[in-house]
Amino acid sequence: MRLLVLGGTVFLSHAVAAAAVARGHEVVCAARGVSGRVPDGARLEVVDRGVAQVPEGPFDAVLDVTDEPEHVRRALAVHGREASDAHWVFVSTVSTYVDQATPGQTPATGAVHPGADLPADDPAAYGPRKVLCEQLVTAGAVSSTVVRPGLVVGPGDPSGRFAYWPSRLDRAADGEPVLAPGDPADVVQVIDVRDLAEWLVTLAETRRTGTYDGVGPLLPLGEALDLVAEGCGARPTWRWTASDDLERLDVRPWSGLPSLPLWLPRPAYDGMLAHDPAPAAAAGLACRPLVETVRDTLAWLHTAPDAAVTGLTAAEEAAVLAELP
Ligand SMILES: NC(=O)c1ccc[n+]([C@@H]2O[C@H](COP(=O)([O-])OP(=O)(O)OC[C@H]3O[C@@H](n4cnc5c(N)ncnc54)[C@H](OP(=O)(O)O)[C@@H]3O)[C@@H](O)[C@H]2O)c1
Repeated sequence: MRLLVLGGTVFLSHAVAAAAVARGHEVVCAARGVSGRVPDGARLEVVDRGVAQVPEGPFDAVLDVTDEPEHVRRALAVHGREASDAHWVFVSTVSTYVDQATPGQTPATGAVHPGADLPADDPAAYGPRKVLCEQLVTAGAVSSTVVRPGLVVGPGDPSGRFAYWPSRLDRAADGEPVLAPGDPADVVQVIDVRDLAEWLVTLAETRRTGTYDGVGPLLPLGEALDLVAEGCGARPTWRWTASDDLERLDVRPWSGLPSLPLWLPRPAYDGMLAHDPAPAAAAGLACRPLVETVRDTLAWLHTAPDAAVTGLTAAEEAAVLAELP
């Protein structure tokens, strides 16, 4: 297969290019080249999609991760149904769903935002922009798959969100109190970037059509954090702390500083990391054990001292623990 990866220099699109090369495919990546390098065996065509066209084909498949509708329109002009029989795999997001509160949603049951070309710097724009990109691809390509990932984790993650937990557990002494957010029964869901990438390549190879949530198995947060500890060889004493208490102490959920990743406002976001994983599994998505993801993320952190790790600093966590009864 000749695969055009629109991206390829960072995290997921890099992992897709790497997986496709490993399967013997010819891979061309189109990116500015400012976020990183493409994997060995793939070829980078330097292009700024804001001002220039992506490489011409022919390609058997196109993989796109953008949230910029104009980039999609431009690429479809040369790889859409009028000009090419390339199958498109478009990477979207579960942020397309209107309802983030209801667990168990699927593309068949969950309504998405109206597609809209809102300014990218609007915090509410991501979902509507991705929906518009999905619509453009579905209408404009000869055939297509839309995949909406949940939280993507693993080696190379530039967000630093999941990495907080392996990083924190890696420095926990035996029995050390470690701040854990919310309720251990809260359900969470992550997908290893490499598992998602392998599946995206399979979807391109098989030209499977449809829309899927790219999500892994459901896990109570308590079990997930125990698996992180296991992967790090740590035996912490979890200090489970109610959301109200964390908010009172100015700890923020999800991301940024000072935050505790994997923690979400409940019940407003009960559905965000709790999509039904069955349709993707039935369509071939295979997920490795979380403990393997943790070990590999930690190994990557040890080789990448500048890697992003988002969350509380040690001093901030200690200050919060000191305030708890
Ligand atoms: N991380 C998560 O938890 C999560 C959750 C849900 C969905 N997703 C989705 O998963 C995908 C992640 O993709 P990703 O990891 O590859 O990261 P990304 O940040 O979405 O990918 C950006 C890629 O596009 C290229 N690019 C950006 N602007 C460009 C431009 N103007 N011209 C040409 N190329 C451009 C970048 O390369 P250069 O900068 O080198 O040009 C890079 O290779 C996205 O679709 C995201 O929305 C992620």
